[in-house]
Amino acid sequence: MSNTIGVFDSGFGGLTVLHELLNSLSTHEGAVARYVFLGDTARLPYGSKSRRTIARYAAESARYLVEQQGADFLVIACNTASALALDAIQESVKVPVLGVITPGAAAARAASKTGDVLVIATDATVQSHAYTAACRAHGLRVIEKACPLLVPLVEEGWTHHPVTAEVIRIYINELLAHADDEGMQPDTLVLGCTHYPLIRGLIEKVVPAGVRVIDSAEATAAEVAQQFFDVKTSAVLKKVEAQLSVAPELAFFATDSVEKFERLGSRFLGHATGPVQLVDLGG
Ligand code: DGL
Repeated sequence: MSNTIGVFDSGFGGLTVLHELLNSLSTHEGAVARYVFLGDTARLPYGSKSRRTIARYAAESARYLVEQQGADFLVIACNTASALALDAIQESVKVPVLGVITPGAAAARAASKTGDVLVIATDATVQSHAYTAACRAHGLRVIEKACPLLVPLVEEGWTHHPVTAEVIRIYINELLAHADDEGMQPDTLVLGCTHYPLIRGLIEKVVPAGVRVIDSAEATAAEVAQQFFDVKTSAVLKKVEAQLSVAPELAFFATDSVEKFERLGSRFLGHATGPVQLVDLGG
């Protein structure tokens, strides 16, 4: 085992999940020797594509992280790939794979008192109804809404822009009206896309008081900590104890403009990514 966690996203939104992994797994520092992050930026957005295409892209990306980069645990830090391609990814690699939907639904269950939950996500994620299924399994009532304009606005860097604020206001008001029509009393809003934590501040300004905004990054990181260390034998843990004071190595890969990744990535990760390497996964 190489003690390498592979983190995959269609772009760099998944760096928000890596950020949480680095925060919450730091107590186990040394046990994770290396994080390898792949952003399939050449083929982003996944959120407007079909299940078949998303599954093909995501499986190719997963195989790259396992076969070329030695990942022995995969985190699918993309809601769209988690919603539509988790099975395809699990079939294509022989390592444990964790998506963000199940931890996100568990976080919603923990947060909601009324049992009524709202989810905003990409078109593909909403059409898959993966969040509805995962939340219903916890006994929650759910309404999902596709917000296709938000990813391009975040990609544009308009994370504090009045246009983004207005677009969010329109989406959230439509969602709240729908919830009202259904007689629901939502108290939790799940950010079902890894780009949305970047506009969390604007979203929180629009949602009514009493509605808690949550994203799955934190819950996913907690689940990774549990599952990653569960799959380790004590022998492996002993082997890595020698490295306990060593911070994990970080390596970043993208399938398109590494310059853009380096420039925008720091906003998602919270610090500079350093050099990003270009990878060709085909078309
Ligand atoms: N990373 C995707 C997600 O979390 C959003 C970007 C895309 O559409 O590819 O759903």
